[in-house]
Amino acid sequence: PGAQDLAGRRVVVSAGPTREYLDPVRFISNPSSGKMGFAVAEAARDRGAQVTLVTGPVSLPDPAGLRVVRIESALDLRSAVLQAAQDADLVVMTAAVADYRAAAPSGEKQAKVAGDVKVHLTPNPDILAELGQAKGRRVLVGFAMETHAGVERAAQKAQRKNADFILLNYPTQAGTAFGGDDNQVTLVRPDGTHEAWPHMSKREVATRLLTEAARHLPPLTP
Ligand code: C5P
Repeated sequence: PGAQDLAGRRVVVSAGPTREYLDPVRFISNPSSGKMGFAVAEAARDRGAQVTLVTGPVSLPDPAGLRVVRIESALDLRSAVLQAAQDADLVVMTAAVADYRAAAPSGEKQAKVAGDVKVHLTPNPDILAELGQAKGRRVLVGFAMETHAGVERAAQKAQRKNADFILLNYPTQAGTAFGGDDNQVTLVRPDGTHEAWPHMSKREVATRLLTEAARHLPPLTP
């Protein structure tokens, strides 16, 4: 076994997409594979942490040696994460939370009609921002995907959500982010300082993320 530098720490990781149902058989979602979050959860487990992984629908099996909570909607993700975060030392939000959900999902399958339809969407709560509002001694890490002005927007996001840092990635680069096994991220702090990490496997990104997060953790009280 490698370094057990997270022994005695409780870590919560969110992963995957959320599904926002319009009716019992249709939903709004995104192509998040969950791989980045699963890699963070497994790396934390291997370093001795007690890990809760809250994941949306993904095709990955439950990793051994950690608690897995499977959810679908952003509201369910929120409940599970806030619950698990109560006694957590570190929360890593890799989940690609849908920004909106149906304002009034139908209990029955909606029939097809002639012509256009309108869907009334309402914003989902921002879970990371909510955690940031009552931050305590918890370390909070977010992810952000931007197509432009990435560093500036990520720094503003880290500030607004009161995250210790954000890992920024771009959806446009080949072999990164959605679905792939690799990622190329830039660490962005709320003060705007940032460092681009090389293209590496998601597992390696997870390892570096945890090393950076561990530096923000308060000393363990005996
Ligand atoms: O604002 P944006 O969605 O770009 O921020 C991304 C970060 O915030 C990710 O860490 C994501 O998991 C988290 N987030 C959240 N709740 C939302 C939207 C995003 O916790 N409703």
